Amino acid sequence: MEIEVTVNGVVRGVEVRPHETLLALLRDRLGLRGAKNGCSEGECGACTVLLDGAPIDACIYPAAACAGRSVTTVEGLAPPDGELTALQRAFVDSGAVQCGFCTPGLLMTLHALLAERAAPSEAEVRRAIVGNICRCTGYAHVVDAVAQAVGARR
Ligand code: FES
Ligand code: FES
Repeated sequence: MEIEVTVNGVVRGVEVRPHETLLALLRDRLGLRGAKNGCSEGECGACTVLLDGAPIDACIYPAAACAGRSVTTVEGLAPPDGELTALQRAFVDSGAVQCGFCTPGLLMTLHALLAERAAPSEAEVRRAIVGNICRCTGYAHVVDAVAQAVGARR
């Protein structure tokens, strides 16, 4: 079926196949490889993108269900001039990017959290990222990055 979906602020007309996931649409046909395929079953959070501002697992979300909606991927976080967001900069500076496989998903989850809560507590940060698995950082650097980003916004 033909759908229109807004991806990173641009309306795209795309033909989607039955059972095609949003992750497959983004990575394989729209060339947006930021969202990663870790588990393909909604368990690791590596594929997290925002759908109308809310984090979802794109690996299990039907592309067809995105018709008329707005998808934001990690490629759409930074403004067109390439300047990193405060959260992205804090990830780099805090050592929260190690192998980087989980990073796009974590950024999307935390971007949504910070849109709702200007200064989340550590417990709120840890609760928000419970579905984003990171094998490298032990999560402490991620929590530090959020604190740094919140401080930078003040
Ligand atoms: S790849 Fe989607 S949750 Fe793991
Ligand atoms: S930085 Fe390697 S999995 Fe998170």
